[in-house]
Amino acid sequence: MTVRSASAIDLSVDVGPLRLRNPVLAASGTLGYGVEFSEFFDLTRLGGIVAKGLTRHPQRGNPAPRLVETASGMLNAVGLDNAGVDAFLAEKLPALRRFGTAIIANISGHTVDEYAEMAVLLAAATGLAAIEVNVSCPNIREGGIAFGASAERITEITRLVRQAAPRHPVLVKLSPNVTDIVAMAAAAQEGGAHAVCIANTWLGMAIDAERRRPALANVTGGLSGPAIKPLALRMVWQVHRALPELPIIGLGGIMSGVDAAEYLLAGATAVAVGTASLVDPSAAGRVIDGLERYCLRHGVRAARDLTGALEIT
Ligand SMILES: Cc1cc2nc3c(=O)[nH]c(=O)nc-3n(C[C@H](O)[C@H](O)[C@H](O)COP(=O)(O)O)c2cc1C
Repeated sequence: MTVRSASAIDLSVDVGPLRLRNPVLAASGTLGYGVEFSEFFDLTRLGGIVAKGLTRHPQRGNPAPRLVETASGMLNAVGLDNAGVDAFLAEKLPALRRFGTAIIANISGHTVDEYAEMAVLLAAATGLAAIEVNVSCPNIREGGIAFGASAERITEITRLVRQAAPRHPVLVKLSPNVTDIVAMAAAAQEGGAHAVCIANTWLGMAIDAERRRPALANVTGGLSGPAIKPLALRMVWQVHRALPELPIIGLGGIMSGVDAAEYLLAGATAVAVGTASLVDPSAAGRVIDGLERYCLRHGVRAARDLTGALEIT
């Protein structure tokens, strides 16, 4: 058997109209705006960077404590602490552009109209590869999870963003805090989504029993990390089986290349690394290397061939 070099593997994927040099993205909110991490990790290696979640205007987020470690995961209630769309366009995007990787903005509206307003502003910018529509933040009082639990709202918001940014790929980040994830993915598809991201964090809470107090000032937060991988993986598989034409970006607890391969086998076209980057800023690089080694080990020539290749007999 001839041993092929790692470079023989074609890692490029097409998430609908969005072409990525490899299927590994940095998940929103876990690598800041990207630039902050550039001294720890070569950002040019990434398939893409989904920047920290943006709102129309700057937002301070929730009071501390906002992060707490849990068994095989963490809870966060950051509450979309961010600089707002205008500052992103003026300061962050120009700095990110020089890394030559796909830059994806992640937007959250407090109202349906705010999504469209942000999409218009972003669509006019140079160098933005796609827009990720967050209808799923569990840590803000208005919008967020409430939009993500309504199929009608998902369709409406997706349609508005598509109209506001007709030349950009639109990815819809779904909430896992729903009974029927397939119905929510179908709602995004109906609104014209080019892909769905499955998923955001699971609503949870942690208690400090000694102090009889919640561990987070916000009381509840979003659970992420390896603890949620089986849950998110199941949702990716369900959506891919029901809606095979709809590209999926899978995420939740990816720590290694094999974890990424699991998501691709379940039906994802690309994946994103979140919490792992908080533990080790170069985690996404390890995931890319590990996925390449997985492909080599299994004689897979192109990462895209893994999508939906799960064998169930
Ligand atoms: C500290 C923190 C901040 C986050 N901020 C955002 C955000 O601004 N927008 C968003 O869509 N998702 C946000 N997320 C969710 C992640 O992008 C991801 O969907 C989730 O953490 C699951 O992936 P993981 O288990 O790999 O972390 C955040 C997650 C964490 C841990």
